[in-house]
Amino acid sequence: MSAIESVLVENRVFPPSDAATRGARISGMAAYEALCKEAEKDFEGFWARLARENLDWTKPFTKTLNESSAPFYKWYEDGELNASANCLDKHIGTPVENKTAIVFEADDGSVSTVTYKDLLSRVARFANALKAQGIRKGDRVIVYMPMTIDGVVAMQACARIGATHSVVFGGFSAKALNERIIDAGAVSVITANFQMRGGKELPLKAIVDEAIGMGGCDTLRTVLVYMRTPSACNMVAGRDKTFEEVLKGQPDQCEPVSVNAEHPLFILYTSGSTGKPKGVQHSTGGYLLWASLTMQWTFDIRPEDVFWCTADIGWVTGHTYVAYGPLAVGATQVIFEGIPTYPNAGRFWQMIEKHKVTVFYTAPTAIRSLIKAAETDEKVHPKNWNLSSLRILGSVGEPINPEAWMWYHRNVGGERCPIVDTFWQTETGGHMITPLPGATPLVPGSCTLPLPGIIAAIVDESGKDLPNGSGGMLVVKRPWPSMIRTIWGDPERFKKSYFPPEMGGRIYLAGDGAVRDEQRGYFRITGRIDDVLNVSGHRLGTMEIESALVSKTDLVAEAAVVGRPDELTGEAICAFVVLKRPRPKGEEARQIASDLRNWVAKEIGPIAKPKDIRFGDNLPKTRSGKIMRRLLRSIAKGEAITQDTSTLENPAILEQLAEKN
Ligand code: PRX
Repeated sequence: MSAIESVLVENRVFPPSDAATRGARISGMAAYEALCKEAEKDFEGFWARLARENLDWTKPFTKTLNESSAPFYKWYEDGELNASANCLDKHIGTPVENKTAIVFEADDGSVSTVTYKDLLSRVARFANALKAQGIRKGDRVIVYMPMTIDGVVAMQACARIGATHSVVFGGFSAKALNERIIDAGAVSVITANFQMRGGKELPLKAIVDEAIGMGGCDTLRTVLVYMRTPSACNMVAGRDKTFEEVLKGQPDQCEPVSVNAEHPLFILYTSGSTGKPKGVQHSTGGYLLWASLTMQWTFDIRPEDVFWCTADIGWVTGHTYVAYGPLAVGATQVIFEGIPTYPNAGRFWQMIEKHKVTVFYTAPTAIRSLIKAAETDEKVHPKNWNLSSLRILGSVGEPINPEAWMWYHRNVGGERCPIVDTFWQTETGGHMITPLPGATPLVPGSCTLPLPGIIAAIVDESGKDLPNGSGGMLVVKRPWPSMIRTIWGDPERFKKSYFPPEMGGRIYLAGDGAVRDEQRGYFRITGRIDDVLNVSGHRLGTMEIESALVSKTDLVAEAAVVGRPDELTGEAICAFVVLKRPRPKGEEARQIASDLRNWVAKEIGPIAKPKDIRFGDNLPKTRSGKIMRRLLRSIAKGEAITQDTSTLENPAILEQLAEKN
């Protein structure tokens, strides 16, 4: 049974235990419904109340929502605040100031910690260093850093001076980095000499050099380098400076710059349905409100909790639930530099025991790979560790199949921890549809119900509501504070991508298919309905991979990329390629496929490497020249072709493409 089929027949229900409900921020379904009603009755009043209660404003807002230029919605538009002050300064003079903010475990297992007070000093010093480098409010700064306390310090320091950060995941290639520096018009790149992953020292600064060497980075003035390891790296005189150099003599106090609520806190690039990644722009006020609120609602965070979100700061999850959310609520959090399988696949469980983690948030792909490891090697099974500190488990990034859900529930959560299967996106800024640990009865594989104030629905192509039980497109009918504001530098694309005119131009189209069950109205996400793939929880555009392939102009004539279901990674990338030379076979085909895989890794990053590459003399096209992707998807899955192929210009091609190298 496929993952989606097994989700559709799921009928197990796990009501919240008394322990989970007791003292919960939202305790019981009646409390959840009361919040939903409050939002329904007075939408703006609801969001105004929450923003006043949860954020410190340097200038209070008087307007809550401005819809006059929809879909360019504005929230709290005449208010001012600073994100870093709301994560750090806010706790000074309270019992939180001496609390551990971050427990950092390095790849090699060594641990260091920092209190809120010390973290504020580090952020302030770094913010002063940025100012001394001429970086000002409104400037864009690229952060290309490993998972370290310093990565968070860099983001918070940007926020403190009103600079807009754009974090690029350390696994992205020089080319991807080059494109993002140019698109953002960045004045500075903050990076490290190397990063440590799985016992290996991997270069970062060398990739930055390569990216800048590709040209076009005209706005870039400085590169700031954190020396993560003792190894030397190339430094360009006048342009590159180590952290040590720029921090020297900087005071540990820095007045946070008050910015407008709509000021762009960050830009984060993500894949869409064209070849060019989109710079998703987020606000300061609405975004931060959501980071704080969802920490309270979804994770029911309490003063004694030890929170661990395993996401890298290069992804949105690492923004909202590492760099901002946990700090905004004064929580203690764990940050991990390494990978879940080093030195062995018991690393996560060992770390939960060691740091007494209470709330653990990870991705289904990690869970599935750890299930596989535990099944083949008893020694890395979670039962070998004491996981009794755990209180709540979370899942994010892709649908979690009920089998993985049950395993997580039993073997990690000891059948006592609610699992919050949080559906959201880079564009939404934070959780949208998710169970609440002290309220929602859980159904494996379902993200259950929208958070209060989130008006989610399932509609057909014209925007008409569909009844429960019928699958359709997931939309959000009203704006919410942490929504994407625009695509950096491309407002037209923003409108076109997310607010289709056929639906009136004001409804947010998520790009996912979903269905609500008949009994409870619970949402189940069935996967992307556009040309976006989800591989190991990483979002990749098929067009992006196609452009990478055809950019090898000496070899590739044409390429089409589709996804196919994969037990471990959710989806796997399958590329169909036509070469500028006769179709290769056997060893030659395997060699070219391997070269092309490496090429894609170089163009985008290793996460975009196609798992499967097939060669054909041509691609299946209609007589009007359109590639029939539907057929390619069937071939990729190894299914017999049952579709109508009468419009296909060259039916013989199908057999060729079905052949594995
Ligand atoms: O397809 C959905 C899937 O991940 C997409 C968003 O990817 P990204 O912007 O990279 O953000 C990932 C982290 C929030 C969505 O369009 N997705 C995310 N969470 C879930 C999910 N699919 C099913 N269930 C989820 N809980």
